[in-house]
Amino acid sequence: MPQKTGRDIAPATGKLGVMLVGLGAVSTTFIAGVENVRRGRAMPVGSLSQMATIRLGKRTDKRSPKIKDFVPLADLKSLVFAAWDPIPDDAYAAAVKAGVLDRHEHLEPVRDFLQGIKPIPAAFDQYYVKRLQGTNVKRGKSKRDLAEQLREDIRTFKKTAGVDRIVIVWCASTEVFITAGPAHQSLAAFEKAMEQNDPAVAPSMLYAYAALMEGVPFANGAPNLTVDIPALERLAEDRKVPIGGKDFKTGQTMMKSVLAPAFKARMLGLAGWYSTNILGNRDGEVLDDPESFKTKEESKLGLLEHILQPEMYPDLYGKIYHKVRINYYPPRGDNKEGWDNIDIFGWLGYPMQIKVDFLCRDSILAAPLVLDLALFFDLAQRAGLSGIQEWLSFYFKGPQTAPGLYPEHDLFIQHTKLKNTLRWMMGEDQITHLGVEYYEYADK
Ligand SMILES: NC(=O)c1ccc[n+]([C@@H]2O[C@H](COP(=O)([O-])OP(=O)(O)OC[C@H]3O[C@@H](n4cnc5c(N)ncnc54)[C@H](O)[C@@H]3O)[C@@H](O)[C@H]2O)c1
Repeated sequence: MPQKTGRDIAPATGKLGVMLVGLGAVSTTFIAGVENVRRGRAMPVGSLSQMATIRLGKRTDKRSPKIKDFVPLADLKSLVFAAWDPIPDDAYAAAVKAGVLDRHEHLEPVRDFLQGIKPIPAAFDQYYVKRLQGTNVKRGKSKRDLAEQLREDIRTFKKTAGVDRIVIVWCASTEVFITAGPAHQSLAAFEKAMEQNDPAVAPSMLYAYAALMEGVPFANGAPNLTVDIPALERLAEDRKVPIGGKDFKTGQTMMKSVLAPAFKARMLGLAGWYSTNILGNRDGEVLDDPESFKTKEESKLGLLEHILQPEMYPDLYGKIYHKVRINYYPPRGDNKEGWDNIDIFGWLGYPMQIKVDFLCRDSILAAPLVLDLALFFDLAQRAGLSGIQEWLSFYFKGPQTAPGLYPEHDLFIQHTKLKNTLRWMMGEDQITHLGVEYYEYADK
């Protein structure tokens, strides 16, 4: 047997600071959730890092520890939170407004804790999020100046909270649609653009830049371009910092990334996929602006093509009509309804339909993803991994990949990739699912 060797992983000693950009529905559901779990009042359902096991070795070995007992993750008790937001509400007031968690059951018991988290003034510009107005905002003569203030915030938090390491997760509103241009191609061009207040530099990019300059991993939970630009990808490599995004894969798109691979696996054709959503939280309101919706739409539309590969299967997937709508409908609050009509066809081209009506809770699905991303990005950094963390594609609608590489969207391939990366880190064998070794004829 060859000697098993994993990565050298620095231990998760001391406290881990989790800095969130945005203190809205997702962030407060995440923070209040972690605090309830820490106090033994609830379970971290939906969190792979906390609840899942990982099989090691052969099926007959019966070795399946919990992931958190297998890899050296930061303990929930060691997490300390901070957040930026242009709205001055503390985490308790913001959680009450978001209306996701039951006030009596999950907010009142942790009220003091939540009230202690007051948002740091944000680098915010209404040009990028039209439907929001903020008073808790930074002032500066240039975007570069704002980025320097964000760097100072990170250093101050590290000192005052006494944390050993920090990760940043973008849980703020979806910004208007921006494509990568000349300002994003190199660090020199990007820094010059910040100095000249170039509109190509969105606030989210300032946070990402500040994080990387401070050696802090940055994960992007919204579909904004943010850290998905050559200048910042390069900076992440140079500074040896993990990055990743974009857009948490939670409700409708998660279902799509489960169903589409099933159709393809069975070689069933697809004629059309119509997806609509009604949603009444602040995210829904922001996405009611066509420019922010365009950013979301791009992220939601991309995956079918990558999963179904119409260029390889023109007869089955060459003529798909794919439509995605998000409708702001206040009575629903955070309880989104994601409705899908899927027109498939089978043997000899006979048509069939599938309807999916997912009555989900947006932030309930997103909160455990924030937790896993914070813990895995911290792990990645301690394991010496830097740049794009494709193994965490599992969590994203539009996974960031190396230039020239198409993203893997199939949820189960992403899941296998994540677990195999953990095995690789710890020097365990990869699981290939070949399995011939279990049968007699394997020896002949
Ligand atoms: N909940 C889900 O299932 C899900 C899935 C995928 C992506 N997302 C994305 O996650 C993000 C958060 O969702 P949410 O429901 O919490 O929204 P939310 O509107 O409740 O919270 C977002 C917060 O970000 C703040 N913000 C806006 N610009 C900021 C800036 N420049 N700096 C700091 N804070 C800023 C807003 O003031 C707001 O409080 C959204 O972009 C959403 O599209 C959510």
